[in-house]
Amino acid sequence: MKLKYSIVLCFLCSFVFSQNNYFFSGKKWKDTDGVHINAHGGGIIFAGGTYYWYGEFKTEGKGGNTALKGVSCYTSKDLYNWKNEGIVLKAEQNPNSEITKGCIIERPKVVFNKKTGKYVMWFHLELKGQGYDAARAATAISDSPKGPFKFKKSYRPNKGVWPVDFKDEFKSATANESSLKSWSPEWLTAIQNGLLVRRDFDKGQMSRDMTVYVDDNEKAYLIHSSEDNLTLHISELTDDYLDFTKKWTRMAPAGHNEAPAVFKKGGMYYMITSGCTGWDPNEARSFSSKSILGPWKALGNPCTGPHAELTFHSQSTYVFPVQGKKDQFIFMADRWKPDNPIDGSYIWLPIKTADEKPILVWSDKWNLSDFKEN
Ligand code: GAL
Repeated sequence: MKLKYSIVLCFLCSFVFSQNNYFFSGKKWKDTDGVHINAHGGGIIFAGGTYYWYGEFKTEGKGGNTALKGVSCYTSKDLYNWKNEGIVLKAEQNPNSEITKGCIIERPKVVFNKKTGKYVMWFHLELKGQGYDAARAATAISDSPKGPFKFKKSYRPNKGVWPVDFKDEFKSATANESSLKSWSPEWLTAIQNGLLVRRDFDKGQMSRDMTVYVDDNEKAYLIHSSEDNLTLHISELTDDYLDFTKKWTRMAPAGHNEAPAVFKKGGMYYMITSGCTGWDPNEARSFSSKSILGPWKALGNPCTGPHAELTFHSQSTYVFPVQGKKDQFIFMADRWKPDNPIDGSYIWLPIKTADEKPILVWSDKWNLSDFKEN
């Protein structure tokens, strides 16, 4: 009898002690099988009492940043303990598929469409063997948040459509603009005035680092690095979230922003981005706006304290609200490991705001009870 009790006790103890009750930024973050979570450049939704974390499934060594498996999904009730649900969008064996094994799938974001009852995944797709030249946005769809997601299509957004607020005078090229020296003041002005929007008008605008934001009125937007990563584009999605409405605008032209993450607090939209240094970290930026389509006001680096100038050695990925809590938002970022991508780790921090500016303070170990009213 005694033995029985100790076995039960041991079992309970090991269960309690294997539970996570904290976020440990930058450390190995084990799933419920004891394996480091593999969901990079990810995004999180809440559905039916469960959080779903989708991300890039990376593998070991060189080539580990390409899509050899696809997009992974983990579930959690409390945000600390995550169960591996497997690959929900599979890289395909068919060499003719746009998402064939070895293509690049980055920054998958899933949103639920209330009208159609479908889960829609958007991601950045680069075609196999073409580096980062294709610069496409892609969609996949599922009836369940656990997938499987079915690949729909990939393309360049806003082909043959000017931004809503684009001046007529910028719709045609100016003399000798193509011979301007890159990064000269004249070239930067030409970029601001739409040099690359005009270049890509017929084939569609580029879409690399991206996020999807669903507003309170259920309108959704793809926010994507375009124009050789020099300018972010904000493109409104159709009611089913599967296409573009032709309403789009440019944000911070020539500002060189990547890795956009958006949230709304107190009626104000906020965006956190990074600069463009590939897998190496750089200083984050932040912006605010009264409308998702702008104009956006630049607020500078939201990070404070040691290593703030390198976003704590990470790059923004997503911001999501804690369910049932007013104004509690979590900032998600990736600490990339290009030499062994599977080892990349996650930085999660609570977002504070002061004077309508987001603030990120480093914390090695924290949990939801640390959210201060702000
Ligand atoms: C980063 C970007 C990542 C990935 C990487 C490739 O700047 O945020 O998602 O595209 O470049 O070098």
